[in-house]
Amino acid sequence: VQWSAEEKQLITSIWGKVKVEECGGEALARLLIVYPWTQRFFSNFGNLSSPTAITGNPKVRAHGKKVLTSFGDAVKNLDNVKGTFAKLSELHCDKLHVDPENFRLLGDILIIILAAHFARDFTPACHAAWQKLVGVVAHALTRKYH
Ligand code: HEM
Repeated sequence: VQWSAEEKQLITSIWGKVKVEECGGEALARLLIVYPWTQRFFSNFGNLSSPTAITGNPKVRAHGKKVLTSFGDAVKNLDNVKGTFAKLSELHCDKLHVDPENFRLLGDILIIILAAHFARDFTPACHAAWQKLVGVVAHALTRKYH
């Protein structure tokens, strides 16, 4: 994947404002609320019975933070996203059996959260760069599937 200097700048400037705890928790909570079948991967997380329960669930928040922090490794390694996520791809495939379609769903949710939090800065060009990034991340996480 090739990134223009402008794309890199648009991605890192937004990333610099992201609070991984807040946005990560919100992203995972929204995934579980909007696409309820994704809850099956998190059956050990306790109460996921309603949007309020999911949003307030500390395990959801903590794991959301972990996931978005990990997503940040892609931002820091834009020229080697595949290598950065090779181990995580194996984990999500072999151990967790997560359907790769879910990576795309989470990426789209992340876009919505960035748009909601940073409305003014999230220009169409910025949106395009981020849409490309979430696609690249989803692809990298799918690479070790067999
Ligand atoms: C665990 C990253 C998407 C399900 C993890 C871990 C990381 C991670 C860093 C912890 C690994 C460890 O403990 O060594 C990511 C990234 C994603 C992503 C960067 C996409 C941007 C998803 C999606 C699902 C999912 C879409 C399911 C719908 C899980 C599960 C675990 C996990 C079930 C184990 C949770 C536990 O501790 O019980 N992921 N993940 N991940 N991920 Fe993902």
